[in-house]
Amino acid sequence: MEKPNVFITRLIPQEGIDLLKKYCNVELNIEDRPLTRDELLKNVKGKDGILCLLTDRIDAEIFDTALTAKGYANYAVGFDNIDVREATKRKIPISNTPGVLTDATAEMAWALLFAVSRRIVESDRFMRTGEWGGWAPLQYIGGDITGKTLGIIGAGRIGTAMALKSKGFTMKVLYTDAIRNDILEEELGAHKVSLEKLIKESDFVSVHVPLLAKTRHLINQDVFKKMKTTAYLINTSRGPVVNEAELVVALRNREIAGAALDVYEFEPKMIAGLAELENVVLTPHTASATTASRTNMALKAANNLLAMLKGKKPPDCVNPELYEQ
Ligand code: DGY
Repeated sequence: MEKPNVFITRLIPQEGIDLLKKYCNVELNIEDRPLTRDELLKNVKGKDGILCLLTDRIDAEIFDTALTAKGYANYAVGFDNIDVREATKRKIPISNTPGVLTDATAEMAWALLFAVSRRIVESDRFMRTGEWGGWAPLQYIGGDITGKTLGIIGAGRIGTAMALKSKGFTMKVLYTDAIRNDILEEELGAHKVSLEKLIKESDFVSVHVPLLAKTRHLINQDVFKKMKTTAYLINTSRGPVVNEAELVVALRNREIAGAALDVYEFEPKMIAGLAELENVVLTPHTASATTASRTNMALKAANNLLAMLKGKKPPDCVNPELYEQ
């Protein structure tokens, strides 16, 4: 039997490529850069399956071009880059990579929390100037962590992992979510509260919601005005959940103490003014960038795609209704 033809839109860890190569003819964008729209359209044509990234916009135009594609395996847990409703209408399965990047992302949220509140990046920049004159009582004073209140916006897998890791710092945990999180309530004595209460009472607000119409700009100037002036914002979810222009104003005016961002509203661009601020820590969407997470994401995406090529429901299907009846 002829092997199916698949396309991988950018280099991913070799384990995923090797797995697909066992069963498929694999074409791959070997240049380590996202494809242009035209290149993406050209390369998906005639393929039986596509392994795509969060930087690829997968929409009706792509589905019209890749008419033979039996499914799309997204190399990410978030899938806001894909028009899933349109895919479902056309009976095209879509998968993501949940679970394997939960701890890595939660760890990064903690790394950012520490970096911004203890002013690690600023201090590092200063040390490299060679101007340090020795220990000083008032130098680089930051925010306390132990015993403070951690507010988790979105208590799904990653939000839950972030909250659970606060145990060692004996923090009070507040969270918002559509449903009660039994693990957080039982293990941490956490409280499910309104967004209003969470932003008013938290010393650290960590965002873990998917990007949806209702979460776009969820964190905006009204939120910053209600947060404590000593509080920090951490975002490892999706950039457009935070209104970046309004964040710059809030940081500049010290309406909040600081922010640490791994994701940006207009990736890969940052809004003007953000990079000039000292009270912000910035990383390039690398929360899941550990060897194990990225390797397992590649294997998961490959396994999902193999299932779709066989006409089976992929293990991490985001439109499972296609298989119900
Ligand atoms: C995801 O998986 O959605 C992250 O943003 C990248 O790993």
